[in-house]
This record gives sequence, structure tokens and C-alpha cells, in this order.
Amino acid sequence: MSAEVLDGKKISKEIQAEIKERVAAFVATFDHTPTLAAVLVGEDPASQVYVRNKERACERAGIHSQLFRMSAQSTTEDVLELVQQLNEDPAVNGILVQLPLPPSVDSQVVLDAVHPIKDVDAFHPTNVGLISQGRPQFLPCTPHGIIQMLKRYGIQANGKNVVIVGRSDIVGKPMALMLANRDIGLGPEMANATVTLCHSRTSDLKAMTRMGDILIAAMGQPEFITGDMVKPGAVVVDVGINRTDAGLVGDVDYEGVLPVASYLTPVPGGVGPLTVTMLLENTLTATGLQRAAISS
Ligand code: GUN
Repeated sequence: MSAEVLDGKKISKEIQAEIKERVAAFVATFDHTPTLAAVLVGEDPASQVYVRNKERACERAGIHSQLFRMSAQSTTEDVLELVQQLNEDPAVNGILVQLPLPPSVDSQVVLDAVHPIKDVDAFHPTNVGLISQGRPQFLPCTPHGIIQMLKRYGIQANGKNVVIVGRSDIVGKPMALMLANRDIGLGPEMANATVTLCHSRTSDLKAMTRMGDILIAAMGQPEFITGDMVKPGAVVVDVGINRTDAGLVGDVDYEGVLPVASYLTPVPGGVGPLTVTMLLENTLTATGLQRAAISS
């Protein structure tokens, strides 16, 4: 048996085409183009690539994007000043501060300063709290992308054992909250899972990962999840993007897991494209929320 490979590029194209139509309808109705402001501090090469990909995706969907570059020597106050300016600019609907920020900048302080109604990453404590309570305003891009991918391949989460490895604020923690809730707006079949959140201190990790009907690898360790750690027939989602001497690899040993799993996401071309796509979705959502706030 060999797993079916989940095609993130194909699903992304599908969703981006839907978003493009919704953006066009919004522009026709309200005469305002949804606008995303991206803040890039420093010269991190991977961040430059991510931001460029996000800009291109915006352009394809008819969303206006603005890039604000700041020097690696910027202070927390410098970045806060820009964020404040973007918060107050009615032309800007979404604000994305690309991570990681340089050591001279306090990421927490900066992310907390983004207005929750423009917080298209869903990193603000207000948005995290709303997700936790099962009534999100925005869904974080990578976890949302994963759920969209599963949904569009007809893979349900309801009643399944989902094992997540990695407890980051960007992926692991919000993913656990979203899947454990009753319904976060994507249908009860894409929630209601029994979730186990594993991390570096988990004892007997292999016993845990082997319980997963759906196994989500998001700990940033190249090819860490090997075939023997996977329950036969499991759905395996690889969130890792690791640059190694051998090139770009995920957190899953792709060749080793392929014969064991029923479905597997590749790296690249799996979860990555969906993360960018869901940012477009959130920018459109933010634009709608701001429009509603103006007219109420
Ligand atoms: N760096 C890595 N992933 C992300 C993300 O989802 N959003 C932002 N802003 N930065 C990131």
C-alpha cells in the first residue's frame, strides 16, 4: 500500500479561485479593494521568500498588498510606531508582521499591538481567546489550511484521535484548540476530535504518535517522524519546512511513511501553499468586519 499524496497546490488554486470571485464581488459592491500590509524587519532569507509569495498570491486574488521593510537594527518602538500607523489607516484591512523578528525587537509586544480586527495571523490574545472559546473572528492560517485540505479530500476529524507533535503558538496550540472544539465554523465533521498535543517533554512519543488516526507533525525537526511512529492507515500531515544540505525537507520521513499512511502531505507542495491562501481569506474577512463596523 502507498499513501495518497495530498496536493496542497491543487487545493490552494481551488480556494484562491473562490476567494478571487468573492474579492471581485466585494470591490464591485463597496468600491474598496481589500488591502494587506506586510511588515518585514531585517533580511532573513526565508522570510523574504514567504513575504514575496504572499504578495504574489494577493495580486492573483485582486487583493492590494503593501510591503513595509524595516532595518534589522529596528527597535521595538520603531516597529510599534509603524504598526500603530497601520492600525489607524482606514485603507489597510490586514496587518501581517512576518516572523521571526530580529532579537532587538520584542515579538510579543509587537504582535499584541496589532489591532484584533486587522490581525490576519490570529496571533492577538483576543483572537486566540475567541478561538479557544469556539467563536473565532479569524482562524490562524496554517491550522485553517490543514483543515481545508482535509475537508476537501473528504477526511473528517469528528471522533478521530488526532495527535499533534509541536506546541507552537502558530500551529500546534491553535490546531489543538480548533480540532477539539465542537464546531469553529467549518462544520462539526471538521472538529470534535480527541486531541493529544505532544512536545519535546512527552514521554514515549512513539506510543502517542501511533495512536493518531490523524498525525500532525509541526515541531521543526527534519524527517523526525519515521514509518514506525505512524499508525498503519493514518492520515499524516507534515507542517515542517526545514532547509538542510539535502534541500527542503519536512518533519516527516516522507519515503519511510509513504508505505504506512493512507494519506500524506508532501514538502514542498503540501501545507505551505494553503498557509498563504488562508491569509487571503483572512484579509477578505478583515475587510468585511471593518466594513460592518463602519456601517453599524
Ligand atoms: N513565520 C512563519 N510562519 C508565519 C506565519 O504564519 N505568519 C507570520 N506572520 N510569520 C510567520
